[in-house]
Amino acid sequence: MGSVTKIGVVTVSDRASRGEYEDRGGPAVVEYLNATVTSEMKIISSVIPDERGLIEATFVKLSDVENCDLIITTGGTGPAIRDVTPEATESVCDKMMPGFGELMRQVSLTKVPTAILSRQVAGIRSSETGGTLIINLPGSPKAIAECLDAVFAAVPYCVDLIGGGFLETNPDRILAFRPKQK
Ligand code: MTE
Repeated sequence: MGSVTKIGVVTVSDRASRGEYEDRGGPAVVEYLNATVTSEMKIISSVIPDERGLIEATFVKLSDVENCDLIITTGGTGPAIRDVTPEATESVCDKMMPGFGELMRQVSLTKVPTAILSRQVAGIRSSETGGTLIINLPGSPKAIAECLDAVFAAVPYCVDLIGGGFLETNPDRILAFRPKQK
């Protein structure tokens, strides 16, 4: 196909951004993508603190300037006072995609009872050059594959519908589902 999918991976964590601990979430997302996506992609990673304005500015830059087709965040979805990733996501999106959060929480609940504490959302930010699908994941590295396994089959078609690059996946891991064209 020769189409490149641009993907932003954003770790939202006060402590990781200050270097108090190593960021394990962002690298876990990148590892998941490298193992699952077989088409060409370009990944732009960032580690930022739990500051709503900065999270929003990062999304806007990745979407409107870098033209990312997809942004995957990790961290900042819980109930703690500093957790504001879902609010930042909602404020930059023009369309929310509630099915992602619903399914990720449902699947996560079979793994851990505290899955209900994640307020993770997904949505689409539209710009003149096309849309960006933003998906929140919890910060726990274990949560990353658990959540992405639940929803990733629908991500390539969603990216198609917003004018992004043609994402192909390794069917041994995730079978991308695209409804038959009429
Ligand atoms: N979802 C999965 N699949 N696996 C997990 O380990 N941890 C939960 C929840 N969702 C978890 C999960 C916990 S303990 C919390 S507090 C919330 O995600 C929010 O995490 P965050 O604030 O790091 O985003």
